[in-house]
Amino acid sequence: MDRQAVQARFGIIGESPGIHHVIDRVRQVARTDISVLIEGESGVGKELVAQAIHELSQRRHGALKVINTGAIPEGLIESELFGAERGAYTGATERRRGLFEEADGGTIFLDEIGEMPQSTQVRLLRVLESGTFNRVGSTTVRRTDVRIVAATNKNLGHEVGGGRFREDLYYRLSTVIIQIPPLRERREDIRPIFDAFIYASTQKYQSPRRKLSPEAYALLESYHWPGNVRELRNVADQIVVLHRGTDVDADAIRPFLRGVKTGKDSTALVAVRDEPVKDSALELAVIYRALLEIRQSIQDLREDLGSAFTERVHNRETEPHYREEIQIDSSRSVPMLPSPERKRDLDSFAYEVESGDEPKTIPTLAQAEQELIQQAMKHFEGSRKDAAAALGISQRTLYRKLQKLNDEMA
Ligand SMILES: Nc1ncnc2c1ncn2[C@@H]1O[C@H](COP(=O)(O)OP(=O)(O)OP(=O)(O)O)[C@@H](O)[C@H]1O
Ligand SMILES: [Mg+2]
Repeated sequence: MDRQAVQARFGIIGESPGIHHVIDRVRQVARTDISVLIEGESGVGKELVAQAIHELSQRRHGALKVINTGAIPEGLIESELFGAERGAYTGATERRRGLFEEADGGTIFLDEIGEMPQSTQVRLLRVLESGTFNRVGSTTVRRTDVRIVAATNKNLGHEVGGGRFREDLYYRLSTVIIQIPPLRERREDIRPIFDAFIYASTQKYQSPRRKLSPEAYALLESYHWPGNVRELRNVADQIVVLHRGTDVDADAIRPFLRGVKTGKDSTALVAVRDEPVKDSALELAVIYRALLEIRQSIQDLREDLGSAFTERVHNRETEPHYREEIQIDSSRSVPMLPSPERKRDLDSFAYEVESGDEPKTIPTLAQAEQELIQQAMKHFEGSRKDAAAALGISQRTLYRKLQKLNDEMA
């Protein structure tokens, strides 16, 4: 299959040298049984590439099993991969097959391999070298014929250097390394991928076609895309769902890009940065959440320690210096905030929230959330866009929450 056919079949869009190189590698390795290590930031398409490798290989009739090492509790990874005998660990009420049995004749995609505990690394190395393994809690040696495709968004070489990843396993896995460059290093792919996502989304939501202005494309192409293609897809979806009208200009796109100033006078230039820009609204939300958690902890402490403590904590809570401690936290983020004006705006909002009628008892998180949403809507005079940005949630989420609020009040 030539490069174009591979791209068409797996929906891998892009004509940049970076993507062409990736596809050529996929074509070369697919027919072999060699282990492949896919490196790339979050959202660049590592899983997509792993699927293509499996589907283009002789193993396509076997299973492709995916396991995200970073998402599974450490204690369960081994039984997940190698299976377990009954009673092998607490909660193992039945014997179970692991992925190495289920994917026999197929492929296992080990996502976030850098997160794999050292003990599991030893077992994995053994399967790779000898094709044998034991279920957890069993002495029976089993055979399996599995091809490994691993992925990491870390630099696994560095992990080896730091002693967190076994060198012998690294060499086993990295016979072939496929590096998928981040979107910001292949800006020419942004437009075609975005167009494809917009098209797919308008089809899905039966929404009218969208036409972007040249400035809108320029903004997309200059943005740093910390979340890569996944983020690009989210932005396309949001435009289709939330933007009314067919014409889309840069101002309509700006609110959906993290760390990019909104407003008429802002330029696209602020978006061109190589390191992720912390979003002020997001930070604010984190601070709120921390505050709420602190309050919750105080409530728990009160209940635990009784009334003597209650008095003291309550006094502290209303003392000015206690507030200052929290203020310091938010001011530490000042250098990352986009504009002094915006900062003042957000600060006064934070202050309103903070200094609002102090409830006698600590609200539940749900109540606090409702209150926060109402305050944000009030502060931004009903602008859902600004309120959502300040709360660090999407407009769609805010919309849903508001509806719920209305339902509850009705
Ligand atoms: N070149 C591309 N063309 C079209 N869609 C793409 C491309 N690259 C990635 N995608 C899409 O972007 C999304 C993210 O891709 P994928 O899940 O493969 O990323 P990932 O590198 O595995 O991310 P993570 O590290 O977060 O697991 C998916 O919906 C995928 O289909
Ligand atoms: Mg992935």
